[in-house]
Amino acid sequence: MAEKRQLLFCYMLVFSLWSCIVYAVTDSQDAAVLRSLKDQWGNVPPSWDTSGGDPCASWEGVVCNNSRVTTLGLSTMGLTGTMSGDIGGLSELISLDLSFNRGLTGSLSPRLGDLRKLTVLILAGCSFTNSIPTELGNLSELTFLALNSNQLSGEIPASLGQLSNLYWLDLADNQLTGQIPVNPGLDNLKVAKHFHFNKNQLSGGIPGKLFDSDMSFIHVLLDGNQLVGSIPSTIGLVQSLEVLRLDRNSLNGSIPLNLNNLTNIIEMNLAHNKLIGALPNLTGLISLNYVDLSNNSFQRSEPPTWFSTLQSLNILIIEYGSLQGSIPSGIFSLPQIQQIKLKNNALSNKLDTSSVSSQQLQLIDLENNNISSVTLGSQQGSTLMLYGNPVCSSSLQNTVYCQIQQLDASYSTSLVKCGTQTCKSDKKVNPQTCECAYPYEGTLYFRAPSFRDLSNASLFMSLESSLSTNLSLSPGSVSLHGLSFNDDEYLQMDIDLFPTDAELFNRSEIQRLGFALSRQIYKPPVDFGPYYFIASPYFFGDGSRRTLSIGAIAGIATGCAVLVLVLVALGVYSLRLKKRAEQAMFFSKPFASWATSGKDNGEAPQLKGARWFSYDELKKCTNNFSESNQIGSGGYGKVYRGMLSDGQVVAVKRAEKGSMQGGHEFKTEIELLSRVHHKNLVGLVGFCFNQGDQMLVYEFMSNGTLREILSGSIFIFLILFQE
Ligand SMILES: *[C@@H]1O[C@H](CO)[C@@H](O)[C@H](O)[C@H]1NC(C)=O
Ligand SMILES: *[C@@H]1O[C@H](CO)[C@@H](O)[C@H](O)[C@H]1NC(C)=O
Repeated sequence: MAEKRQLLFCYMLVFSLWSCIVYAVTDSQDAAVLRSLKDQWGNVPPSWDTSGGDPCASWEGVVCNNSRVTTLGLSTMGLTGTMSGDIGGLSELISLDLSFNRGLTGSLSPRLGDLRKLTVLILAGCSFTNSIPTELGNLSELTFLALNSNQLSGEIPASLGQLSNLYWLDLADNQLTGQIPVNPGLDNLKVAKHFHFNKNQLSGGIPGKLFDSDMSFIHVLLDGNQLVGSIPSTIGLVQSLEVLRLDRNSLNGSIPLNLNNLTNIIEMNLAHNKLIGALPNLTGLISLNYVDLSNNSFQRSEPPTWFSTLQSLNILIIEYGSLQGSIPSGIFSLPQIQQIKLKNNALSNKLDTSSVSSQQLQLIDLENNNISSVTLGSQQGSTLMLYGNPVCSSSLQNTVYCQIQQLDASYSTSLVKCGTQTCKSDKKVNPQTCECAYPYEGTLYFRAPSFRDLSNASLFMSLESSLSTNLSLSPGSVSLHGLSFNDDEYLQMDIDLFPTDAELFNRSEIQRLGFALSRQIYKPPVDFGPYYFIASPYFFGDGSRRTLSIGAIAGIATGCAVLVLVLVALGVYSLRLKKRAEQAMFFSKPFASWATSGKDNGEAPQLKGARWFSYDELKKCTNNFSESNQIGSGGYGKVYRGMLSDGQVVAVKRAEKGSMQGGHEFKTEIELLSRVHHKNLVGLVGFCFNQGDQMLVYEFMSNGTLREILSGSIFIFLILFQE
C-alpha cells in the first residue's frame, strides 16, 4: 500500500512546488493591498477567496504586468464596504474600475491620489459620499475620470484643474455644491472634451474664464444645477462645442450674441432658466439639430428668421414662451424637421401647413396658442395639435386636431416570436433564442439625442444591433424597453443584454460589459449622442447575492479544517515514504530498447505485474492495428482491441506520433500505472516501447468510460478520491 502511493505523493509534491514557483508572481506589496481590500469588501469574486491563490495568477479582475498590478476592474460585482486607504499602495495601477457597485459606501480615500500612474478612474454608480479628495489632483496621468451617480457632496476641488491630460470629466448626478472653481481651476483643463456636471447643486455663476478659444470642449453639460447669472459670452469662443446644456438652472440676463459663432453645435438646451432679452439669433448655427429655449422670460417677439433657415434643424422646442405673430410656413419644409413644439405661446393669425414636405415631420404641437384659422396640408401622417386655440371653437371644432392626442407608443424590443414564454425568478426571455436567462440589466441615459420620436423602430433596432455588435454579443440578444424622456429631458431606457448559449454571464464577461459601458468604449449610433449607463446588480448564480446560512458556513469551515489536516498528514507521510524509497532502491533487468530518450538515466521501469511486449506481438494481436479492431480514439492516439496468445482480451493504447511523451515520462507513467490496482480502474497488463512506438496494454473493459480512463492523467485524481 505504501509503495503504491509513493509516486502519487511525489507527483503531488512536485505539483505544489511548481505551483508555488510559477504562480507566486504578485509583488508582495501589491498582494498585501489586494488582500486588505478583499478583507474589507463583501462579495469579492470567489476566485479571491481561494486561499493561497496568487492575485496576479488567479484573481478575477486583477491584471498584472511584471508582477505589478496594473488593472483592477470589478464593475458590477455587487461589492459592499468602504474604500480603504490601502488602495493607494497599488503604485503601478493604470486603470481602476469599480463602477456599478451600489454597496460601496463611505468617503473616497485621499490615498487615491497616490496612484500616480493611473490613467482611468471609474467609480460611477456606487454610493460614495462626502467630498471629492483634493489629492485626486495629483493624478497627472489621468485621462478619464468618472465619479458620476454617487452621493458625493462638497465643492469641486480646484486641484482637478491640474489634471492636464484629462479628456473625460464626469461628476454628474451627485450632490456637489459651491462654485465651479477657476483661476486657477478647471480653466486649466485644456484638453478636456467632456465636461459633465449635470444634476448637482452647483451654485454661483458660470465662470467666463472656463471658456476660451484654446479649450477643446465637445460636451458641456451643466444642466440641473442652481447656477445663476448670465451665460458668459466666452462660450462662443469654444469652436469645438457640439452639445451645450445649461437648462434647469436659474440663469438670467440675455443670451450673448456670439453664441451664434458655434458652427459645430448640434444640441443647445437653455430651457427652464430666467433668461431675458430677445430670442437669440441662431442663424449661424449651421449644424444645429436640436434646440430648446422653453420656459424662459424672453421678450415678446415674432418667430425669428432662423426658424425657416436652419437646414439641419430636427427639433425645435420653445414651450411656455413669448412668441407671437404667425409661424413662418418655411419651417414646415425644412429637410430634416421632425418635431415643432411651440405650445403655450401667443402665436396667432393664420397657420398654413400646406407646405409640410418633410417625410419625417412627426409632430406639430401648437396647443394653447392664439391661432384662429388653419389651412391644412396633406400632413403626410404628422400629428398636428391645436387644442386650446380659438380655431378649435370654430372651423376645426370636433376634429382630431383639437383633441388631446397621444403620440405613437414607444418602441420596445419585440418578443412576439417567443409566444407566451415566461421565466421564473429574475430570468428573462432572450429575444434571440426565446430561452430564459439572466441578462445584464441596466439603464441607459442619452444626454442629448437628436430626436424625440420614440416610436421609430428602425432607429432603435439600429441601437440594438450596435449594442450586440460592439459588445460582442449574439445578434438579437439585446432587449430595449421602458423608453421615455425623463424629467431631466434625458432619453432613458432599460436594456437587457443576454449571454450567448448560456444562462449566465461569468464575472469576466460582466466586468467587460460594465467597463465597455462605463468607460465609453461602446459608441452608440450618432443620433443618440452622449450617454451614461447604470447597471443593476447581477446574479452570478454562485451565491454571491445570497448570504450563506450559519449552518452552511460551519459546514464549509469544518470541511476546510479537515482538508488542511489531511494535507498536512499527507505531506508528512510522503516525506517518510521518500526516505524509505531511497533506502530500498533496486534495479531490475534493463531493457535494451529502453533508453531512446537521451535524458533517461538508464534505470529500467520498476514494474509490478506488468510486462514488456514486442511491437510484433501487439501488431499480431490487434490484427495489424486494423480499423475493425479500433475501439476508440482521441488526442492521445488510438485504442485497439486485441487478443493475446493466452486468450486474454486486452485494450492497446497506441500513442499518436505527435502526442508521444519523452522516454522518461513514459516510463514514469508505466511505473505508476503498474502499481495501481483498484476495482474501478483498468489494470495495466504491459507496455511496448519499440520502433518509435509507445503503447500501453490494459485489461479490456467492455463497458464504462474506457476512453476517459485511457486518456491519461485524470487517473491520478481518480485514485486520490477512491483511496
Ligand atoms: C443673425 O446673424 C447673422 C449671421 O450669422 C447675421 O447675418 C444677421 O444679420 C443676424 N440677424 C439679426 C437680426 O441680427
Ligand atoms: C427613423 O429613424 C431613421 C434613422 O435615424 C430615419 O432615417 C428615419 O427617417 C426615421 N423614420 C421616421 C418615420 O422618422
